[in-house]
Amino acid sequence: MSGFLLEIAGLNKVYRTRGGADFAAVRDVSFQLGAGETLGIVGESGSGKTTVAKMVAGMLPATSGRIALGGKAFGKSGRSRADKKKIQYIFQDPVSSLNPRLKVRDLIAEPLKLYFKLPPGEIDKRVDALLADVGLPRDYRSRYPKELSGGQCQRVGIARALAAEPSIIVCDEPTSALDMTIQSQILELLKQLQLQKGVSYLFIAHGLEVIYSISHRVLVMKDGEIVEQGDTRSIFHRPRHGYTQSLIGAIPRIPFPAFE
Ligand SMILES: Nc1ncnc2c1ncn2[C@@H]1O[C@H](COP(=O)(O)OP(=O)(O)O)[C@@H](O)[C@H]1O
Ligand SMILES: [Mg+2]
Repeated sequence: MSGFLLEIAGLNKVYRTRGGADFAAVRDVSFQLGAGETLGIVGESGSGKTTVAKMVAGMLPATSGRIALGGKAFGKSGRSRADKKKIQYIFQDPVSSLNPRLKVRDLIAEPLKLYFKLPPGEIDKRVDALLADVGLPRDYRSRYPKELSGGQCQRVGIARALAAEPSIIVCDEPTSALDMTIQSQILELLKQLQLQKGVSYLFIAHGLEVIYSISHRVLVMKDGEIVEQGDTRSIFHRPRHGYTQSLIGAIPRIPFPAFE
């Protein structure tokens, strides 16, 4: 057994499409994630990132391959609640990922009730602590998702993931639907929470600019396969694959004509 928290080996996903044809969305993907580490997964839309993310989180069965947490491989036949608790998920669309009929308090209490046996008073204390963790005022507990901004909804999504006290959070493009300034606030929050809680992130994005500041290592995917992986600095400064180079070329540069 190696020292990695999460080990993925030879992961494959074949979707059976409606016409009956098979489509290999993820092919032979292998990587490791250490405790307290962030691995960025980057690739264009349709490259298989969400498929990998959902298989890792146990939300989608793998066609083949091994997913092991703490040296123990998950079986084929669905995960126990205790195993689900360990890997949580933050969704790309923060608003639609929240049940519109539940207040913030109940949205955050839901995973607390699912994963822990707590008396009601303790649930409310933990809800308040989680609101503070994600930078939302305490009185937001009685609001509905539609009364929150996109960024605030994503903070609730982060609080729900944290509530389970997972060792890994899969962040599937958690900032793609948000404005630039809100994006960077959410990234800062995630970084801070990692330092406080020691949680590991599998952080997915379609552009390298989001990945750079948060990832310790980066994995580049194209057409369901890994084309390159390495530590963040070497991926950015010495990309070996042409596709990675094209992603770096696509990073928007802020034009400051007055200073040129
Ligand atoms: N349920 C599904 N059935 C069939 N094909 C799917 C399904 N989900 C995703 N795909 C296909 O698998 C490929 C990878 O999708 P996805 O993992 O969502 O990529 P990404 O997250 O990188 O945009 C795409 O071509 C997509 O159309
Ligand atoms: Mg996706």
